Amino acid sequence: MASAGLPEVAPRRVGVLVSGRGSNLQALLDACVDGFPARVVRVVSNIPGVYALERAARAGVPTCVLPHAGVPRPAFDAALRAQLLDDGVDIVCLAGFMRVLGPGFLEGWPVINVHPALLPAFPGLHGPRQAIAAGVVQAGATVHLVDAGVDTGPILGQATVAVTDDDTEDSLAARILPFEHRLFVQALRQVAEGRVRVEGRRAHIGLKPGEQRWLQG
Ligand code: GRF
Repeated sequence: MASAGLPEVAPRRVGVLVSGRGSNLQALLDACVDGFPARVVRVVSNIPGVYALERAARAGVPTCVLPHAGVPRPAFDAALRAQLLDDGVDIVCLAGFMRVLGPGFLEGWPVINVHPALLPAFPGLHGPRQAIAAGVVQAGATVHLVDAGVDTGPILGQATVAVTDDDTEDSLAARILPFEHRLFVQALRQVAEGRVRVEGRRAHIGLKPGEQRWLQG
């Protein structure tokens, strides 16, 4: 329902790109209920048969698969972009999407990614594995806007998670994951509400009472 005297604003249309099990997708689907400023209108996977597609179907969200194998990067990016434009998408979320997207895809809409490490440390694959190998005592998660680099875009929020002596890659990743979900939902809300302003590498967010950009595990 609209607040008294204010026009109701349509929820932002979100396209989510996935490559795997889709727990971050699930967090977004669960958040996108009445009162949330965004709706997932399309889920695209680059890999057929992944569990994320099932989650989307269960939520009644249209899915499609655009395989990347053998497709030159610019053509893949263009096909993906065409699909999401066709769906009227305003915001793109990368939820465990294991492809790097070029500038041709990124232009013109916010693209949000979540990464299981405290960026700028440990970008790329296997964040928790890299953190353990480096001997850090604080690992974590980062949600950020995507630029043309790998995990280099403006940071929206971060969570710290302590590394224990007996941690394995899997145990650490499992403790980081719920923080990814919380950070992602909060970042999507902030972007959808137009509260994020980017200046160089820094994102400035108009925070609401009770919101903070960091979480502590
Ligand atoms: C997450 O840890 C995400 O940060 C990373 O890949 C994992 C995907 O998990 N990029 P899920 O598919 O969202 O469950």
